[in-house]
Amino acid sequence: MASLLFSAIMLLILFNLASALHRKIPTTLDGPFGPVTVPFDQSLRGNAIDLPDSDPRVRRRVKGFEPEQISLALSATYDSVWISWITGESQIGYHINPLDPKMVRRPILPHKARGYSLVYNQLYPFKGLQNYTSGIIHHVRLTGLKPSTIYYYRCGDPSIPAISEIYSFKTMPVSGPRSYPERIGIVGDLGLTHNMTTTISHLIGNKPDLVLLIGDVTYANLYLTNGTSSDCYACSFPHTPIHETYQLRWDYWGRVMQNLVSKVPIMVVEGNHEIEEQVESQKFVAYSSRFAFPSEESESPSTLYYSFKAGGIHFIMLGAYIAYNETGLGLKRKHNINFCPLSCAYMT
Ligand SMILES: *[C@@H]1O[C@H](CO)[C@@H](O)[C@H](O)[C@H]1NC(C)=O
Ligand SMILES: *[C@@H]1O[C@H](CO)[C@@H](O)[C@H](O)[C@H]1NC(C)=O
Ligand SMILES: *[C@@H]1O[C@H](CO)[C@@H](O)[C@H](O)[C@H]1NC(C)=O
Ligand SMILES: *[C@@H]1O[C@H](CO)[C@@H](O)[C@H](O)[C@H]1NC(C)=O
Repeated sequence: MASLLFSAIMLLILFNLASALHRKIPTTLDGPFGPVTVPFDQSLRGNAIDLPDSDPRVRRRVKGFEPEQISLALSATYDSVWISWITGESQIGYHINPLDPKMVRRPILPHKARGYSLVYNQLYPFKGLQNYTSGIIHHVRLTGLKPSTIYYYRCGDPSIPAISEIYSFKTMPVSGPRSYPERIGIVGDLGLTHNMTTTISHLIGNKPDLVLLIGDVTYANLYLTNGTSSDCYACSFPHTPIHETYQLRWDYWGRVMQNLVSKVPIMVVEGNHEIEEQVESQKFVAYSSRFAFPSEESESPSTLYYSFKAGGIHFIMLGAYIAYNETGLGLKRKHNINFCPLSCAYMT
């Protein structure tokens, strides 16, 4: 009896502790804290199951040239933010026809922002392999923003009309020794699995100001171009003429992520899963085309490394796939890029 009561009290205390922890996760502003490590929970081991092509969360929900896969990235300083989105359908198969990136571009007032649009291809000059061409990818940089301020925006082309709903984001605080974003979510090896959707829900629930994705994004390179996948590419497909990918996984990923990254900026740096070698030994093409990076703003010649400020923190994103003595890959310039004023309305 006594011991029963004791365990009941213990449980109660534990419960209170858990709910207190749940109520208040400390922020960077409550710090500084000593480093804390938590032992790995072995129950988390196990196979992560990919979201299948048929999952409604990965399917295209927009019509015509309406924007989708909307995402935000920081520029080098608080006063500037990148907005990215995709219009038009990607294609995969034996006869693909790249879209013209100039098709969708009207600026809208009162605040129009300059940006560029592009399509990228993932091409395999081998018999039986399918080629891919993306939808039109738009990257627009907003400038002249105030710190710690909520901005509302829509993107798209009002002349078609194909314009997004209204989204909002908050700019970073000014850079200074006592000025920090409250919460930063850091994830890596995300993939596109049922388990990843749990991770994203946790992230959203904890209201981060900024998310860092430190490599290994979609794992589209665990697939063949015909959509067959394996947990171990080299074991299952030892004889493919090149390490294939299934680029539609990138579109799926962009759709699943929109809920988070249309409101919270995400800063990405490459991992080995983004190499995705294709025709003419080109590498990192999907990675470099789909995300906006503050490379130019931080004087990096490459999408593979760059830096930016978030309040009093200066982040240096150092990818491991470029030699220190190489001056950039000029990845973006290789593709069909259209520099023009793009449609993206925003207001405080
Ligand atoms: C991953 O998701 C699958 C499917 O929902 C689930 O069965 C499995 O337990 C999850 N794995 C982990 C480690 O949470
Ligand atoms: C894919 O593109 C490559 C490079 O242009 C080309 O050699 C190959 O024939 C294309 N494959 C198909 C099936 O069209
Ligand atoms: C894809 O190609 C692999 C290897 O040639 C083959 O085993 C598999 O059945 C194909 N899958 C589909 C869906 O065609
Ligand atoms: C960079 O350094 C490596 C190792 O010394 C060398 O092989 C490579 O040619 C260099 N690249 C350039 C662009 O100088």
